[in-house]
Amino acid sequence: MAPWMLPLFYAFIFVHSSHLSFAKFPPRYFPSSLIRPETTSSPSNNEFYKTKYFTQNLDHFNYNPQSYQTFQQRYLINDTFWGGNKINAPIFVYTGNEGNIEWFAQNTGFMYDIAPEFKALLVFIEHRYYGKSIPYGGDKKKAYKSSKTLGYLSSTQALADYATLIIDLKKNLTAMDSPVIVFGGSYGGMLAAWFRLKYPHVAIGALSSSSPILQFENITSQYSFNNIITQDFRSESENCYKVIKGSWKQIEDTAAKHGGLELLRKSFHICKNYISGDYLEGWLSTAFVYTAMTDYPTPSNFLSPMPAYPIKEMCKAIDNPKFGNDTFAKLYHAASVYYNYTGDVSCFDLADDSDPHDLGGWQWQACTEMIMPTSGNTKESIFPVSTYSYEGRAQYCQDYYKVQPRPTWITTEFGGHDITRVLKRFGSNIIFFNGLRDPWSGGGVLKNISKSIIAIVEPKGAHHVDLRFSTSKDPKWLRDVRKREINIMKDWISEYHHNLADSDAQY
Ligand SMILES: *[C@@H]1O[C@H](CO)[C@@H](O)[C@H](O)[C@H]1NC(C)=O
Ligand SMILES: *[C@@H]1O[C@H](CO)[C@@H](O)[C@H](O)[C@H]1NC(C)=O
Ligand SMILES: *[C@@H]1O[C@H](CO)[C@@H](O)[C@H](O)[C@H]1NC(C)=O
Ligand SMILES: *[C@@H]1O[C@H](CO)[C@@H](O)[C@H](O)[C@H]1NC(C)=O
Ligand SMILES: *[C@@H]1O[C@H](CO)[C@@H](O)[C@H](O)[C@H]1NC(C)=O
Ligand SMILES: *[C@@H]1O[C@H](CO)[C@@H](O)[C@H](O)[C@H]1NC(C)=O
Repeated sequence: MAPWMLPLFYAFIFVHSSHLSFAKFPPRYFPSSLIRPETTSSPSNNEFYKTKYFTQNLDHFNYNPQSYQTFQQRYLINDTFWGGNKINAPIFVYTGNEGNIEWFAQNTGFMYDIAPEFKALLVFIEHRYYGKSIPYGGDKKKAYKSSKTLGYLSSTQALADYATLIIDLKKNLTAMDSPVIVFGGSYGGMLAAWFRLKYPHVAIGALSSSSPILQFENITSQYSFNNIITQDFRSESENCYKVIKGSWKQIEDTAAKHGGLELLRKSFHICKNYISGDYLEGWLSTAFVYTAMTDYPTPSNFLSPMPAYPIKEMCKAIDNPKFGNDTFAKLYHAASVYYNYTGDVSCFDLADDSDPHDLGGWQWQACTEMIMPTSGNTKESIFPVSTYSYEGRAQYCQDYYKVQPRPTWITTEFGGHDITRVLKRFGSNIIFFNGLRDPWSGGGVLKNISKSIIAIVEPKGAHHVDLRFSTSKDPKWLRDVRKREINIMKDWISEYHHNLADSDAQY
């Protein structure tokens, strides 16, 4: 499989081409608030953690017989730094997102970086229906067969899994009094924040990084996501923005001409199985969207390796006078920053829909409760003008799964409307980190809600940049963000220990 392949590739064909006919390119996946951690530079798995399995209930919310079926839930554990139960040393739990947990564990370096200082136990729990945590005997085909078997894939079930597992693990370790802090980025960050709100007796706090918990219904504008991407490129270079913005029509016009597809195929070094102008647009959009999400200050390895500040590199290619007025040459070189930075791709395969990190389940979630309108594009947008269509999504989900989305369920279950007023006097100990270069930040919590529900907002930051392994090249703002997060979590833990001592004295 091509290393630059994006499992969610079709998402952006769908997202950015809603002005085009829907039937031409049925979306396979919807955009996820994905973490795309490193895959190559990480040490091998067994240097990081031990793998365990826990027998989990299929359905936590029902007492009919089939609810009592179980499945094996994978979790990863590292006790090297743990201070142990005698001193009630803390437990840091990563609430897994929509993918293979090893992938997240190897890339949430922040938890490893701070574990020694906190004497923390590290636990990474895999989300049900992803990776190796597959119900129906681990048989993915069976589990993904229909809405009847996929029905148990939901955020509320996942949170209940985490609570059940954490409580059982603490019992096994005789560490009932060890404080738990939950960590998560992206969808995992939403789960961490919601976990703190729903299970305050299990976790004393949550670090919720780049979690767009307000990207539901119309709490956040549907235009916000693409406005931020537009701004990312436009602030780099007005010309760069204009070239990209102008390119969509040029691609469509070229594709419609006799011999145009062959010209595009050659210009973009696309493999022989190249399909259409729409696919090319989706492929390019994908590169721009994910590059904006991961515009990190140091070289990264998102799905494929990328240089530090990749937007700058893309715009350098586009602004390069060498390419004159050749828009396709400019775009080809810009896209290569994302798809071919190492230079080992021989041709680009636009039709590749392989899913190496097991992200496919997100499509079900995006057809049921994760209805996050992000696809609007204004006249100023770097992408073609479009508006979000709930009907389009609903129709797709009906056709594909025979399931009807519940677009208001997340706010019913977890809230979101008037979040400041609601949470000001309810809830505590949550850090919401957002980097404003991240398109998902528009749906994040960007204001302090109370003394202990804190927003850390970094204008230069991208998607959960704080959770990455630290490097010697990290800029000062990033080191400062992490320092603030560490200090806040230290306060939570010391307050917890005080309270624990008080209650011991009392009872
Ligand atoms: C925990 O992670 C560290 C690296 O940060 C590694 O040296 C250690 O071997 C790991 N421990 C386990 C039990 O995997
Ligand atoms: C706790 O111990 C029991 C008995 O050995 C085991 O079945 C269970 O999986 C353990 N729980 C966790 C979270 O590992
Ligand atoms: C969101 O939609 C509801 C129902 O359509 C409407 O009453 C409300 O004014 C909208 N809120 C915003 C911020 O647009
Ligand atoms: C691009 O430049 C070439 C020569 O420099 C010129 O012939 C052509 O008309 C230009 N195309 C556009 C669209 O400006
Ligand atoms: C990838 O980069 C290498 C080195 O620059 C180049 O030779 C190759 O043609 C590129 N692949 C594609 C598909 O453009
Ligand atoms: C939230 O409050 C903290 C102080 O507790 C402050 O450092 C931080 O800048 C505030 N965040 C925002 C987004 O205003």
